[in-house]
Amino acid sequence: MFKSLSVASVFFSLVVSGTLLAGPLGIGTTATDEVIAGWDIDVRPDGMGLPVGEGSVAAGEGLYEAKCASCHGLFGEGEGRWPVLSGGEGTLDTLHPEKTVGSYWPYASTLWDYIHRAMPYTAPQSLTDDETYSISAYILYLNDIVDDEFIANKETFARVKMPNEANFYVDNRPDAQNERCFKNCADPKLFEIVTTINGVTPTGHFKEDSGVAANHYEGNPSAASEVGTSNEISTTKIVFSDTAVLGEGVYDKACQACHSSGIAGAPKTGDKTAWVSRIEQGMDILNVHAINGYQGEDGVMPAKGGNMSLSNDDVINAVAFMVESSR
Ligand code: HEC
Ligand code: HEC
Repeated sequence: MFKSLSVASVFFSLVVSGTLLAGPLGIGTTATDEVIAGWDIDVRPDGMGLPVGEGSVAAGEGLYEAKCASCHGLFGEGEGRWPVLSGGEGTLDTLHPEKTVGSYWPYASTLWDYIHRAMPYTAPQSLTDDETYSISAYILYLNDIVDDEFIANKETFARVKMPNEANFYVDNRPDAQNERCFKNCADPKLFEIVTTINGVTPTGHFKEDSGVAANHYEGNPSAASEVGTSNEISTTKIVFSDTAVLGEGVYDKACQACHSSGIAGAPKTGDKTAWVSRIEQGMDILNVHAINGYQGEDGVMPAKGGNMSLSNDDVINAVAFMVESSR
């Protein structure tokens, strides 16, 4: 809705005159068709949005092993605590439901969309359409939903039926249940959070100056450390070695996704307490762990952070940057 008539008429005159001014305030730029296409990547259950291209289960196997297995396991069983992608049939109505692509997801289109949009975790949107078809086909194959001859393309993919589809229904409730308040409304500044659900609701960001990152979960204090008030590493007083200087760019690209916030048990860069005993192991061990990956007590460090395009030296440099930031 337009706020006032005058704003509405400015819009109107822009459209009429055909000028490509960036809105009434003259800021920003007009989205081109190309820019819009970059955002318009959703794939719908009926297959709308799937691109031209194709991929096979066989091609998917090699791609999956190279780009996905370090986190999701060779057969989709999940390394450590990374998400499981296969199995779990018949467990949904038990005490320990295992929700996987095969047991839970209602539409194959979601698999294509999700992988194309978000995976691999450390390099989202790096896969080509054909690679995405192949890897999706392979994951469907791991779940016994298609056979090993399956060729995925626009037509065949849209026809795949997922085992759990029937248990989903369209939720047409309104997004907000409450009436909107227009007069005598309570002042939001006076709202107070009196309770949170243990282990579920993030609380860190509610406490001002608490020094606890927003990923601190009540009931799981080890998820965040008490060091520093932000995720930025304080680098002001550190004189970095040449190796570490080289490593900073690699770190930003391939390691900070986990190590700047400490998700999934990753030791937070800059958190001296989290690093002291790790550093005591010596650089050689740290480097081997970072290059080959390993399962520790806090979680799984995927080989090269899941980014197999890095050279060993890239990883060694990044480790130097992390260690020198954390002493
Ligand atoms: C560095 C580890 C890592 C790598 C490598 C990786 N993933 Fe993931 N994957 C994750 C994480 C973490 C999540 C959960 C993300 C979330 O819930 O926000 C995830 C979620 C998924 C899911 C959704 C699982 C579910 O049931 O919700 C799929 C499907 C998936 N990944 C496929 C892939 C594919 C295909 C590749 C390779 C092209 C890949 N992943 C590579 C870490 C990884
Ligand atoms: C997907 C999340 C993730 C990414 C990305 C990631 N790490 Fe890790 N890393 C972890 C986790 C989790 C641990 C802790 C494992 C444990 O000790 O239980 C860890 C631990 C480490 C350690 C400590 C090893 C030790 O022996 O104590 C080093 C060094 C390390 N990572 C380096 C890196 C480098 C370098 C990169 C980027 C190239 C990187 N990590 C990317 C999750 C990640």
